[in-house]
Amino acid sequence: MSRIAIIGGAGYVGLSYAAALAKLDHDVIGLDLDADKVSKLSQGCVPIFEPGLEDLLREGCAGGRLRFTADYADAVTDAEYVFLCVGTPPASDGAADMLHVRAAASSLATYARGHTIVVNKSTMPPGSAHLIADLLEHHRADSATFSVVAVS
Ligand SMILES: NC(=O)c1ccc[n+]([C@@H]2O[C@H](COP(=O)([O-])OP(=O)(O)OC[C@H]3O[C@@H](n4cnc5c(N)ncnc54)[C@H](O)[C@@H]3O)[C@@H](O)[C@H]2O)c1
Repeated sequence: MSRIAIIGGAGYVGLSYAAALAKLDHDVIGLDLDADKVSKLSQGCVPIFEPGLEDLLREGCAGGRLRFTADYADAVTDAEYVFLCVGTPPASDGAADMLHVRAAASSLATYARGHTIVVNKSTMPPGSAHLIADLLEHHRADSATFSVVAVS
């Protein structure tokens, strides 16, 4: 089974992915900068309603396959796969605002070690994998390498 970090792991998409991947027996850490949501999730309180999600989260946490943190080093240093699930709200011109994606990719690069497969799950315009790859390359530690994957 794989070690997986989900950036934006307390949001709608990230939380669902975290719970589902833990159900598949992966070792999952949900990383989110919203410390309040992380604290509530760590206590078993689910901030969103999605049928079946609460049971999956409880099962994953109780089985030691799922936990939550607000600490990038804790989440990504040993991760084999990192899913980017941060928000990309519409900017004033209607395009996806990549502010959170840029921040997440830069922080990820700073703390990752070894080889990491980065999976873009956030909604992004075509070609954004190149933007992510450039950010990772710019901020990475000497020992870190990345492969970037885009999924719809
Ligand atoms: N909600 C949906 O049904 C849905 C469906 C398809 C695609 N999407 C796409 O998935 C992405 C996520 O959507 P969502 O609805 O889960 O958003 P959301 O706002 O519910 O969750 C995003 C989370 O990312 C966290 N975050 C922001 N910046 C961060 C950073 N730098 N590091 C760590 N965490 C950070 C936020 O605290 C938040 O908890 C968006 O691009 C959205 O367009 C959403």
